Amino acid sequence: FAAIDVIRTKRDGGVLSDEQIDWVVDAYTRGRVADEQMSALAMAILLRGMNPAEIARWTAAMIASGDRLDLSGVRRPTVDKHSTGGVGDKITLPLTPLVAACGAAVPQLSGRGLGHTGGTLDKLESIPGWRAALSGDEFIAQLGEVGAVICAAGERLAPADRKLYALRDVTGTVEAIPLIASSIMSKKIAEGTGALVLDVKVGSGAFMKSEADARELARTMVELGGAHGVRTVALLTDMSTPLGRTVGNAVEVAESVEVLAGGGPADVVELTLALAREMLTAAGLPDADPERALRDGRAMDVWRAMVSAQGGDPDAPAPVAPEVEVVRADRDGFVAGIDAYAIGVAAWRLGAGRARKEDPVSAPAGVVLHRKPGDQVRAGDPLYELRAEDPERIPAARSSAAGAVSISTEPPSVPALVIDRIG
Ligand code: URA
Repeated sequence: FAAIDVIRTKRDGGVLSDEQIDWVVDAYTRGRVADEQMSALAMAILLRGMNPAEIARWTAAMIASGDRLDLSGVRRPTVDKHSTGGVGDKITLPLTPLVAACGAAVPQLSGRGLGHTGGTLDKLESIPGWRAALSGDEFIAQLGEVGAVICAAGERLAPADRKLYALRDVTGTVEAIPLIASSIMSKKIAEGTGALVLDVKVGSGAFMKSEADARELARTMVELGGAHGVRTVALLTDMSTPLGRTVGNAVEVAESVEVLAGGGPADVVELTLALAREMLTAAGLPDADPERALRDGRAMDVWRAMVSAQGGDPDAPAPVAPEVEVVRADRDGFVAGIDAYAIGVAAWRLGAGRARKEDPVSAPAGVVLHRKPGDQVRAGDPLYELRAEDPERIPAARSSAAGAVSISTEPPSVPALVIDRIG
């Protein structure tokens, strides 16, 4: 094969053969197809699309670029969750120990944030001592003993995706449904989980801004999971407003701990329980009662064990941001909406996220919301606060967040959080 023929086939709207796909993914992983050739192919895929058979083969080739973990030695049923990424989306933090407390094992291999969406590992690293990198043996041992692991994916998990995702990020080719679906599912299938629940986000803070695109992505991923023997269902959920009241790293950990203590914001609790029920059903534990596991402290016990097993101190005080700016309502009314994208960008500019892969993130930086959509406000009431370690980060965040909160004179209708279930 020659890369140029594969590129031309897709450029001209043709269908790639199984052999072409296997060859190009393998050759790219080994460095025998150049970045510029893979960029051209990714752009051709973005513009021309792929049929279901091509997507399935592409996904299989990405899995085959590395190792598929074997979790058959873990005595509990395994089930994982993946979110397509949002603003204030800390759900993995309370959900993983909660589902483990109900009898399943959750092998959560997570990533870091890039751009306006946060990363689970960045959030957990705000806990002093906590370590994201585990060896394969440590991963399996913790999964068996604690039932819950959140850690970084190793080098051998879908290495083709690692390389391709970095390339797509800088070539305007992230937003292709076949490439997003195969990227996410190759990693989740290679991780070895028996079942998977997808939280596919829709709205300003999500990759997929339209419900039609989100549905297509969800359907594509559910089919890929099934084809590889992973029971997969998807919830379509609203990401027009940030989840909960916090967007950042340490602030999101603190909010997750509130949920595990039986409190926390209603939307975070609702989505955590909805996903927990789906995961437990998919794991063959439909009678488990996640609400009770939150109330009676079992989920909190697993959280503490999970954090400690990875070197973290669950009792360490949260780091405090020295710079705080409170933004207030300029009139009376109701909060009609809070734009997730604008708040996500503000948190990122405060230092919660990174501009380049190698940048560090700030643990205490972020946005704390004092009001949520539907709440009544009076002029002068605090709407949200911007927190940073470095005062120079405040002005850019202030202008990103300006106008994010809309205030109406009449009570607004607040959109449902869970839009649909696909699977
Ligand atoms: N997340 C991934 O892992 N891959 C994508 O392509 C997009 C989001």
